[in-house]
This record gives sequence, C-alpha cells and structure tokens, in this order.
Amino acid sequence: MEKLYGKKINTAVFISGRGSNLKSLIKYNRKKNSPILIKLVISNNADAKGLTIANKSKIIKYIINLNNKNFEKKLLKKLFYHKINLICLAGFMKILSKNFIKKFNKPILNIHPSLLPKYKGLNTHNRVIKNKEKYSGATVHFVSSKLDSGKIILQKKIKVSKYENKKTLQKKILKIEHKLYPKAIKKILINL
Ligand code: GAR
Repeated sequence: MEKLYGKKINTAVFISGRGSNLKSLIKYNRKKNSPILIKLVISNNADAKGLTIANKSKIIKYIINLNNKNFEKKLLKKLFYHKINLICLAGFMKILSKNFIKKFNKPILNIHPSLLPKYKGLNTHNRVIKNKEKYSGATVHFVSSKLDSGKIILQKKIKVSKYENKKTLQKKILKIEHKLYPKAIKKILINL
C-alpha cells in the first residue's frame, strides 16, 4: 500500500445487519488521532439496521444486490470512485471473490466472534457453548477468499463461564469486538 503520510485512510465499512461494529468504527473515525475516515457504508441488505446509523452520521450508503451477477464489478467502481484504501467487513455475511480481493488490491479486514481458526461461519456462540469450550473471544484478520480465514491481526480471549448462554456470550464478545476492531486498524495503519 502506498505511504499516505499522515493523511486519513478512506475507508468503506461493509455490513449486513445490526451495525454495532459500524457504530464503534464511526466513533473511532471521529477521533482526532484516528487513521481512518469512513466515506462509505455498503450493505447487501436494504433493511439492515446499520443503515440508520450511517444515515445519522451522514455517511454515503450503497446497497448492493447480490443477485446481480455484476455486483462486484459495480462495487469496485464505486470503491475506486471514492478512493477507498481500506475495507472493514463488520458483520458482512457474504464471501468476497478471489477476483474482487485481487482487483481491490488494498487491505480488507474482517471481525469474527471466535478465536479463529476455531468456529468459522455461523452460530458461533451456540457451537462454543455446546462444545463446553472454556474460552472464546474475537478475532480481526485480513480477508482471503475463504470463509473467516486470512492472516490474524489481533485476537482477544475471554473465559466462558459454566452458566453462559448464547445471549450472554454474544453480549460479552460484542463488547470486546467494539474495542478490538479499532485497535487492529491502528495496528496495521498507524505506521503508514
Ligand atoms: C459481529 O459479532 C461480527 O463479529 C459477526 O457478525 C456480528 C455483526 O454484528 N461477524 C461474523 O460472524 C463474520 N463471519 P454487528 O452488525 O452488530 O456489528
């Protein structure tokens, strides 16, 4: 990635639903010493709650239609037009193609609510509880074209109590995610 010498990095956040990580990233991007500037929020779901968060913050939104086979091409056009240099997937429930990742050619990050490489995919917390895991956590990693894979940037581990259920675990881990994502971004960008 080119050196940007103190300039904020134009960032697009991809969502599919609630958008609590989007909210925490918006909060982070407003900080004076934050290395990112969120210019675009992309959603594959027109009803995503997260879009109202983007609205309130007056960030440009773009809804993609996954049924349109040219959606990645259109999306890349949009990203290049807005000079996006970083993509943060925040609850984006679609795997980006190898071709998209190659053509974008800049960092794409993802957050996942488990200690990757364990528990990739959906229903993470249910599976963790069912397997009586002692620990779980959250991971921020670079995106590859395989589900929840790619080089790990940061990970935070927490204890799973005997009395944990899906809801309590999700709440605990989400709180961790909101701190971990900005930290991981800082880790990869601050020295540019
Ligand atoms: C978060 O827990 C995120 O880690 C997870 O979706 C949730 C989105 O919540 N992502 C994945 O499972 C990716 N495989 P949010 O919309 O409130 O940020």
